[in-house]
Amino acid sequence: MAADHIPCGLNGLPAEAGASAADRIGAKPGFLQRDAPAGFQFFLADTCARAAPMSTPRHVPVLAREAVEMLGVRDGGVYVDATFGAGGYSRAILHAPETRVIGIDRDRTAIAGGFDLVERSGGRLTLVEDKFSNLVEVCAAQGIDTVDGVVMDVGVSSMQLDQAGRGFSFRLDGPLDMRMGHEGPTAADVVAKASEADLASILYIFGEERHSRAVARAIVAARLEAPIMTTRALAEIVAKVVWAKPGEIHPARRTFQALRIFVNAELDELHLALSAAERVLKPGGRLVVVSFHSLEDRIIKNFLATRGKSSGGSRHLPETAQIQPSFRILTKRPVTPGEDELRDNPRARSAKLRAAERTDAPAFPAAALPAWPSLATVMRGG
Ligand SMILES: C[S@@+](CC[C@H](N)C(=O)[O-])C[C@H]1O[C@@H](n2cnc3c(N)ncnc32)[C@H](O)[C@@H]1O
Repeated sequence: MAADHIPCGLNGLPAEAGASAADRIGAKPGFLQRDAPAGFQFFLADTCARAAPMSTPRHVPVLAREAVEMLGVRDGGVYVDATFGAGGYSRAILHAPETRVIGIDRDRTAIAGGFDLVERSGGRLTLVEDKFSNLVEVCAAQGIDTVDGVVMDVGVSSMQLDQAGRGFSFRLDGPLDMRMGHEGPTAADVVAKASEADLASILYIFGEERHSRAVARAIVAARLEAPIMTTRALAEIVAKVVWAKPGEIHPARRTFQALRIFVNAELDELHLALSAAERVLKPGGRLVVVSFHSLEDRIIKNFLATRGKSSGGSRHLPETAQIQPSFRILTKRPVTPGEDELRDNPRARSAKLRAAERTDAPAFPAAALPAWPSLATVMRGG
């Protein structure tokens, strides 16, 4: 849905919108660091010796029509776009009259890139730089207790992937960063500090890398020679010990995926955000999640499978002793992109959409997070 369909005006515009946006995050056009707003030209002189000027590539929303249809957007409804990115989903939701959208992204360049849309939304879009695991608190801070829909499009955006300076891509040379947000250890820090055993676990669990031990050994040997600071250096180390199967993209693909997921605690975030959505959705409210690899899809599928049936108790006990389903599943099988979308946007190829409708049963008790290596423990050295 085109942004120019959204009513213009400044009524009720949140304080952070408008021309002061760049000032607020300390951005100056022309010569900025990584934290510059999207759309600015900037250099990465702080982290990459081979710094080059870059412009921001746009993200093409994946399964946007299907996501918004599944969300059942209705006039006047309140929605959370938990992964604002380039705002494709938010734009589509705002197309319905009187809707309100809280857009969340942990990447301040994505938030800054959306200020224009905030302005044009006439106060109906509020953008918040935060992690989506905090979505209940983000809504509460806006005076919102319950919402009509939560949509998440997890993973990285094209703006992140296609900027060498963000360090996500094995195809582009840049600093080995990979953080979606702007604090905490980078991938270079992890590669420098993690023990060989921790590196192997990270690569195996988050990258499903069959050669995890060989790659971890190669990284540890290489870092004794020189610090591994760039994406190219890491990709070359991996390519010496892993051969890509015919048709596979690059031997370092799984290593990069693993480090990215680990550095951003992506799977913990997803677990926490699904539970948070369960708490904030009103009865009849919809949850729609688009994911891009099997690790994410498994978490979403299991979450919905558990919440979609009653549990606990026994058939000898009254029904009230059982935990009632908190969701009604809307997608027995995941929705995937059609041929037209795949032709126009090859990045959509692994996308899967799952959706469910909140019942009026209470939210399930939050489950413990899986016991996989955590960033804090690994950086402390075990
Ligand atoms: C695939 S893009 C979303 C694209 C968006 N649907 C659009 O149409 O432009 C994913 C976005 O989610 C953000 N993101 C990923 N994990 C996050 C988290 N845990 N908390 C907040 N934002 C997150 C990323 O920074 C990125 O901008």
